[in-house]
Amino acid sequence: MYKQFKKECLENIDGQSADIEYQDLSRKWQLKSFQHKYMYNFEVLGRPIIQYPQDMTAIQELIWNIRPDLIIETGIAHGGSLILSASMLALLDMTDAIESGVVIDPGTSQRKVLGIDIDIREHNRSAIEAHPLASRIQMIQGSSIDFGIIDLAKEIASDHQCILVCLDSNHTKDHVLAELEAYAPLTSIGSYCVVYDTIVDDMPASTFPNRPWGPGDNPKTAIREYLKNHPEFEIDKSIQQKLLITSAPDGYLKRVK
Ligand SMILES: C[S@@+](CC[C@H](N)C(=O)[O-])C[C@H]1O[C@@H](n2cnc3c(N)ncnc32)[C@H](O)[C@@H]1O
Repeated sequence: MYKQFKKECLENIDGQSADIEYQDLSRKWQLKSFQHKYMYNFEVLGRPIIQYPQDMTAIQELIWNIRPDLIIETGIAHGGSLILSASMLALLDMTDAIESGVVIDPGTSQRKVLGIDIDIREHNRSAIEAHPLASRIQMIQGSSIDFGIIDLAKEIASDHQCILVCLDSNHTKDHVLAELEAYAPLTSIGSYCVVYDTIVDDMPASTFPNRPWGPGDNPKTAIREYLKNHPEFEIDKSIQQKLLITSAPDGYLKRVK
């Protein structure tokens, strides 16, 4: 039953991929959504997140399938993406406990989220630290491309076996390229380095007034550059093909070797 259902889903997704009108509509819808700041409308377990619900669903699927014990995120803002990751790690511990009968104390669980942000606002920091999932979250303040911060992240990563990386901080090409050089190698084989806001490249320049990024200078252009010398990563197009609405077209990078 399940196999047949999944086969039909894949056929539907192939149909979406071949439907140019549907894809144009999705792009047009996304342009409108930027104008209305749609991606600011949501919360995860009480903390605002700046994502499309579609990408939140994709992350949920990735975490469930990869079962990471460390998720590294650049770009914290209000903390919603940290809480989403932490909640999925808590569910992995809970489902492990149900299957094995061995309950892990959340305070001693190996499964953690590391968040890095150049400017962790006090009200955000206190709300994240007061959250019931806080024991799974470690925050570091500093630029994600600062060598001291990168060294700290590498030291933390060295205690973990399966790592997922999400890049969502400054969206200029140079910054994301430096982040990819620093953090993508920490991604475990079979896991992903998710690079958000590649969509910037597909939108008109006027969409991002007062921002240093835009078409031609953004996370997608950084990925193009990075992949020239990094065959260990491949763009997993199957994710954007099923989402259609995503801030990360060509941004779901799978580590294949
Ligand atoms: C789009 S928000 C992150 C949203 C968050 N991941 C979420 O899903 O809710 C971008 C964040 O990147 C941070 N940022 C900007 N430049 C940075 C840098 N050089 N290093 C680390 N963080 C940076 C900003 O302070 C901001 O909080």
